[in-house]
Amino acid sequence: MLARIQGHPKVDAIVKTAPRDCGMCHKEGAKAGTLDSVVHKAHFAKKADSLFIKQFQGACLNCHHMDLASGLVSIKSGAKNW
Ligand code: HEC
Ligand code: HEC
Repeated sequence: MLARIQGHPKVDAIVKTAPRDCGMCHKEGAKAGTLDSVVHKAHFAKKADSLFIKQFQGACLNCHHMDLASGLVSIKSGAKNW
């Protein structure tokens, strides 16, 4: 999907854990934008027409994890897609 973004650097060799390693470029104050802003925009900007909503139900919990006991929300991260 990143290869479809015009001008996106090739990151296969440097991103080992996603999305954590994406943060080497996507961080506060960086030109590439923060990770939350680029990822949320890429998945939800077209509202109901977004691919992520049409094909994957758009659920926040595809990427986020919520601990039901504490209510703490975190980000799933790993070597490949979950
Ligand atoms: C080597 C630095 C680098 C890494 C690593 C990187 N990105 Fe990017 N990313 C960029 C840059 C630079 C842009 C801006 C491209 C442009 O608009 O010319 C960008 C743009 C994007 C955009 C589009 C933003 C928009 O609103 O158009 C998305 C989505 C994105 N990156 C997601 C990711 C994800 C997910 C990862 C990890 C798998 C990742 N990036 C890793 C540098 C990086
Ligand atoms: C495609 C994966 C993905 C989906 C889907 C997603 N998020 Fe996120 N979200 C992220 C990432 C990545 C971050 C940034 C984490 C970081 O910077 O450490 C983030 C950060 C956040 C944050 C904290 C920072 C901020 O932007 O305020 C909130 C709150 C949040 N998400 C809410 C949501 C909600 C609500 C939904 C569902 C409507 C959602 N997210 C869906 C990936 C996703």
